[in-house]
Order: sequence, then structure tokens, then C-alpha cells
Amino acid sequence: MQINDKSGVQNYQANEKRYDTMAYNRVGKSGILLPALSIGLWHNFGFVDSIQNGRDILRTAFDLGITHFDLANNYGPPYGSAEENFGTILKSDFRPYRDELFIATKAGYDMWPGPYGNLGSRKYLISSLDQSLKRMGLDYVDIFYHHRPDPDTPLEETMGALADIVRQGKALYVGISNYQATEADKAAKILKELNVPFILHQARYSMFDRWVEDKLLDTLEQNGVGCIAFSPLAQGMLTDRYLKGIPKGSRAAKDLTYLNTETVNTNIEKIQLLNAVALKRDQKLSQMAIAWILRQPQVASVLIGASSANQLKENVKVLDCLDFSEEELKLIDNIVS
Ligand SMILES: NC(=O)c1ccc[n+]([C@@H]2O[C@H](COP(=O)([O-])OP(=O)(O)OC[C@H]3O[C@@H](n4cnc5c(N)ncnc54)[C@H](OP(=O)(O)O)[C@@H]3O)[C@@H](O)[C@H]2O)c1
Repeated sequence: MQINDKSGVQNYQANEKRYDTMAYNRVGKSGILLPALSIGLWHNFGFVDSIQNGRDILRTAFDLGITHFDLANNYGPPYGSAEENFGTILKSDFRPYRDELFIATKAGYDMWPGPYGNLGSRKYLISSLDQSLKRMGLDYVDIFYHHRPDPDTPLEETMGALADIVRQGKALYVGISNYQATEADKAAKILKELNVPFILHQARYSMFDRWVEDKLLDTLEQNGVGCIAFSPLAQGMLTDRYLKGIPKGSRAAKDLTYLNTETVNTNIEKIQLLNAVALKRDQKLSQMAIAWILRQPQVASVLIGASSANQLKENVKVLDCLDFSEEELKLIDNIVS
């Protein structure tokens, strides 16, 4: 919601009804509740993007009850710019609402040159979070993640760094991302011994990528840890974005490493079939894809991206229809298997 002050500057005042319709789920066995949908700043928030559009997306998100914003040190491009832009928007719009927000950042991928700007050493994690806090203008983040496993650094060192980050008051909770079930289990045991609130595993999960169903979700449940599912729309493939080809300005049109024309073309038949199932449910494909993930009890939140506020508004309508019949689930299994 926007109001104009006397000088014509558009100030932000959050929608008074922002908590009326969003659903909030408990994260594992922790005290934290997360919105069923969270917003990620991986794309569309770098210096290459329009900050006004980013601001619009975040204002819309918060107005819809989305209290969880997810960042990482290297989101941009360039690296660090999503955190810097977020810091600008936080200062102008969200300062009064800081305690209503659950803000995440991460370190684990390539960030700066040399041996200390990547992977999982104590040196990298602690200095990276210090840089992230400066860029965002924050004293602390709500959760700090190790972004990916590092096979060459002892897990005790990486988890020890997370523990000290909490003790220093720079993060309230910690999480891991992209860890396989066995590594996640080991991490949970170490963090439990260190008495550190390890509450979330951030994992890629969509109809097109079901690896978490094998062991990870059960492992997390056994450890009282929640799951937050990223790229639930397979970066836009599980929406109506590509039903009539590759539109200009779409993520696939940018031919990035993670999603390109070839990937879309390989999957287009399945996308069309899934879209037919969604239409029969009186739903958009994006909404069905999100509902399908939210049916897993271990998943506390579905972490979506958006290039416009309208996409976000459309996706949040998933809450009107979350249930599936056995027949629909079987149909989806057959299409994606
Ligand atoms: N931990 C990790 O390693 C990791 C890795 C990846 C992501 N993440 C987190 O997860 C977040 C989400 O990832 P993601 O952006 O890949 O998620 P996603 O939700 O699968 O894809 C988002 C993209 O789908 C398209 N889209 C969304 N809603 C749409 C709609 N209603 N209609 C048409 N198109 C729609 C938009 O693409 P267009 O640009 O084409 O409009 C949007 O940018 C990231 O921002 C990040 O915070 C974490």
C-alpha cells in the first residue's frame, strides 16, 4: 500500500489486513512460524534490475502476509547487489516492520577471489556474514545458512562457525542448504550438541525435481528440522509462462545456466499435460505446483521467486485450493515420472 506525503514522496504503509489470509506453518519443532509462501531475491533484485520493481514486489509480498525474505551473499548480479538493494528498500520501507520480518542470508558459493571467499571454512562464513550485514544495514539476520556442503572442510568447523555466529548475536537461527540426507543428519547431531537452534533445510523441490522425497524429508522430521522448498515452479516452467513459446524477458529467454530454451523445450509436453490437470482443478499451473509441495507436512514454506508483483498475487491465491484427490496425485505422478 502506498500513500503520498506532502512533498509527493511515496511512503509505504503496510496493509492493515496483511495477516488476515496468509497461512503460517510451524518450522520443525521450533517456535518459528513461516508463511506458506516466502519470497526469494535470487533474481530480479540485482543492480542489473529495476529497484522500483523490486520494491513493488517486496511491498506486495508483505501486504499479502509474506513475512519471510530470503537472500544470499552472492545474489545479484553483481554479487552482493541484491543484499545492497534490499538494504536500501529496508531502510526506506520496512524499518518500522523489522520485528515482523524473518530475514535470511547465506554463504557457501563463490563470493570473492582467493582461498577464503568460497565453500565452508570458518574464516569464509564469519567474514561473509559481516559483509552481508553491512550491505543490508542490519545488526542481525533471523537465519543464516551454510549454502552448500563443502566436502573438504570438516563439518565440525562449518557447524562450529554457525554456532559462534549465533553466540555473537549475528543470527538468531541457523540452517543448511543443498545437503544430502546423511550430511544433514550429521550436521543436526553436531548442532544439537552445540545447543544451536538449527531449524531449516533449504532444498530444491518441485514436481520436476523430487529428490527430497527419497530420504531427506524423513531425516529432517526425525531431527525436528523443517524444510523450505526452493524453485518450486522449476524457475518458471511450472507456470503458464512457456505454454506459447519463450516470451521476451522471461528467465529462459536470458539463457542462463540454470534455465534455458533447451530445458523448457525438453519439458514442454509435461508442462502442457500438467496445465490441463490444473485447469480441471480450476487453478493456474503455478498454484497447483505450489499446493503440491505444501501437501508435505515437513515443508514449512514454499520459497518462490517473482519478476512482478502480479505473479506474486497470482501465486498467493494457491491458498484457496490446497487439497488434492488421490486421482489427481496419481495423474501428476504419471506425468512427471
Ligand atoms: N539455496 C539455494 O541453493 C537456492 C537456489 C535457488 C533458489 N533459492 C531461493 O529460492 C528462491 C526462488 O527460486 P526461483 O526464483 O528459482 O523460484 P521459482 O518460484 O521456481 O521461479 C520463479 C520464476 O518463475 C516465474 N514465475 C513465478 N510466478 C509466476 C507466475 N504466476 N506466472 C508466470 N511465471 C511465474 C518468474 O520467472 P520470469 O522471470 O520468467 O518471470 C519467476 O522469476 C530464490 O530467489 C532464492 O531465494 C535458493
